[in-house]
Amino acid sequence: MIVSRTPRVRLLAVAAVVLALEAAGCCAAPDERTDEFEGTVKGDELEHIRDNSGNDDQRCDSACRTLVVGEVENVDACEAVGPEDNPDAPWDPANTEVSITCTVTFTPFVFCTGRRPQGHVEADVAVDSRASWFAVHAHLERASVTAFSELADWLQRRRAPFPLVARCCEAAVDEVRHAEALEALARRDGAEVVPPCADPPTDDLFTVALHNAVEGCVSEAFAAVVAAHQAAHARSLELRALFSRIAADELRHGQLAWDLHAWLWDQLTPEQRDALARAQTRALTDLAASSRQAAAATPRELGWPEPEHAVRMAELFARRLGADAGLAA
Ligand SMILES: [Fe+2]
Ligand SMILES: [Fe+2]
Repeated sequence: MIVSRTPRVRLLAVAAVVLALEAAGCCAAPDERTDEFEGTVKGDELEHIRDNSGNDDQRCDSACRTLVVGEVENVDACEAVGPEDNPDAPWDPANTEVSITCTVTFTPFVFCTGRRPQGHVEADVAVDSRASWFAVHAHLERASVTAFSELADWLQRRRAPFPLVARCCEAAVDEVRHAEALEALARRDGAEVVPPCADPPTDDLFTVALHNAVEGCVSEAFAAVVAAHQAAHARSLELRALFSRIAADELRHGQLAWDLHAWLWDQLTPEQRDALARAQTRALTDLAASSRQAAAATPRELGWPEPEHAVRMAELFARRLGADAGLAA
């Protein structure tokens, strides 16, 4: 596996697509078809495409994909035109928007109504299951405080750009809030929270990069998507409000992981980059099975998707994230 470019991922865009599909509650796979699309790209989207594609054909391809609501199989034809005063040089950095016309083979997302069947029986959740869910997640949030504090220290020693260090410090503060909120809920439900413990961290660049590539770029990023689902589906207003705050924080943490990944990537050898890409691909592949398990174990009132929904969310997340990061399918 060769990932030649520095992986740059916009996690919010990936999360939005995954949640939109899941919210639609779609079941049957729609048919693939070919259509023509027209539209413009501008702002951050245009800048991202201009800076992260190797040549003008790839830029047109990437811009075209932003116009399609569905899984793109192939961009069959693509034409980019600049603004009136510069139509023949669409990707000139001076241009603020680019018009795209393209023909695409794709499978549309079908937005059907997410209604449960008549006679659906809610899971009979024991109180101690809910309490133990809070206790386990409070424990994990507390472990995240240590993870971000150690990472901030490590980055400072490595003279990393100040904003990366500062974002890690802010993330550690976020994780304290998450831990305290979940610890309070666990205790209110009568559960004890076991404090985390860990071996001292390794100083080595590759080890840190590998850990971030899997724990941050995949696990924490997907946790952000699941938290957003909980924010919409948890049964109580108290929990929906809590998961809304956690989801917003975790999305920032997932994006931080990808920004760190790009900074670390540039310091690695080709063999080390290859190892990172393989580890991320494996982690993305494993997400479906682990999500099914977690969904089955989580009381429904906490807003996790049903196991089959969780699998589809994980698979779509893996596809979109893998494509953005340039990982092999
Ligand atoms: Fe957290
Ligand atoms: Fe986090």
